[in-house]
Amino acid sequence: MTDVFATLNYHELRAMAQRFLPRGVFEYIDRGSEDEHALRELAQAWRHWQLRPQVMVDVAQRDCSTTIFGRQQASPVVIAPTAMAGLVRHNGEVLMAQAAAQAGVPFCVATQSITPIERIAAMAPEADLWFQLYHWEDRALAHDLVRRAHDAGARVLVLTADTVIAANREYNTRNGFGIPLQPSVRGAWDVLSHPRWLVSTLLRSSLCDGVPTFAHYPPEFRSAVTRPSISKRIQVAQSLSWDDIAALRKLWPGPLVLKGVLRVEDARRAMDCGLDGVVVSSHGARNVDSAPAPIDVLPDIADAVGKHLTVLMDSGVRRGSDVAKALALGARGVMVGRLPLWGMAAGGARGAAHALALLRQELLSTMALTGCPSLSALDATLIQKSLTQ
Ligand SMILES: Cc1cc2nc3c(=O)[nH]c(=O)nc-3n(C[C@H](O)[C@H](O)[C@H](O)COP(=O)(O)O)c2cc1C
Repeated sequence: MTDVFATLNYHELRAMAQRFLPRGVFEYIDRGSEDEHALRELAQAWRHWQLRPQVMVDVAQRDCSTTIFGRQQASPVVIAPTAMAGLVRHNGEVLMAQAAAQAGVPFCVATQSITPIERIAAMAPEADLWFQLYHWEDRALAHDLVRRAHDAGARVLVLTADTVIAANREYNTRNGFGIPLQPSVRGAWDVLSHPRWLVSTLLRSSLCDGVPTFAHYPPEFRSAVTRPSISKRIQVAQSLSWDDIAALRKLWPGPLVLKGVLRVEDARRAMDCGLDGVVVSSHGARNVDSAPAPIDVLPDIADAVGKHLTVLMDSGVRRGSDVAKALALGARGVMVGRLPLWGMAAGGARGAAHALALLRQELLSTMALTGCPSLSALDATLIQKSLTQ
């Protein structure tokens, strides 16, 4: 298969991505942590939730548009922040933003982006940009970054709380794909045997911008992704606390969201701190290998805070029916990480946009087949836990 538009689903996009990318990059995107229990649980968990179709409902007109943090979007989906998307394709983060704009959904730029948010905003002026913060040890530098994101046009700030240290991903170490990247004979062979990626991504990016770096690090601390960060000051703060959230609340005038929440108490605390939303997330089953599937903890969190906060969720969303399930269990919308990355690897901005279009089309089909003309019809009566687990 050569044309990304000929792909029918995420399986085919993922297979195309796997052919295009060196193994090190593909596994960095695709896999979980340690023994990958959480990743397997994730797939099971979605299957255990079932939709109960209502019949004899007029679904001739269906609408999956929604409003999240005051802006209308074409579907209840946000492209999740993913570090180093610029290693998947040249200008990867720009391509993501362009795909998001085409699909009419927001794109959340990562702190560990290869492309700076200013360039993303300039090259994708239609995109609704959010910014994800890894809060550095040096509070003043972290706050400077927040101001920078705001000045560049980010509308929503997402603080990631679930990654105070790098998770144990042994395959990355074996592949030399840690931070910093570790050049090796095995890695060199991996890259040489994927010449399309080598030429169109690595060489092109290096020719245009030099060796890739984390674009949001202050210049004095910025180093190539092949070299270790030179200062503890820009490592993620292990001492992060609710006081930091209070400080961010004062600093950030727009919607402020906490990402990586899996407990009702934490969601309540976020509400008490004046946050606007939470993302119920296990980081795509990439961090705590014993973490529950977010879809399973979503109902309690949505019950507790859903009337006051915008509850988003992610981890393992692959099909439109998954989006329908998340909404039926109380989410306002979902984030997707791997899905658009596979699409972008498979076919650049067109590929990522195609991945989002497939998801939207599947959501509309699910709505038709379950008797839901609009997203508000996706409620608790639509969903049940399988009786045959
Ligand atoms: C390659 C990759 C890099 C990621 N980097 C970040 C990151 O820098 N910050 C963050 O908050 N989440 C990061 N995530 C997690 C995503 O934001 C999101 O929570 C997760 O991908 C959702 O699961 P899904 O990939 O199954 O859709 C990353 C995920 C992937 C796959």
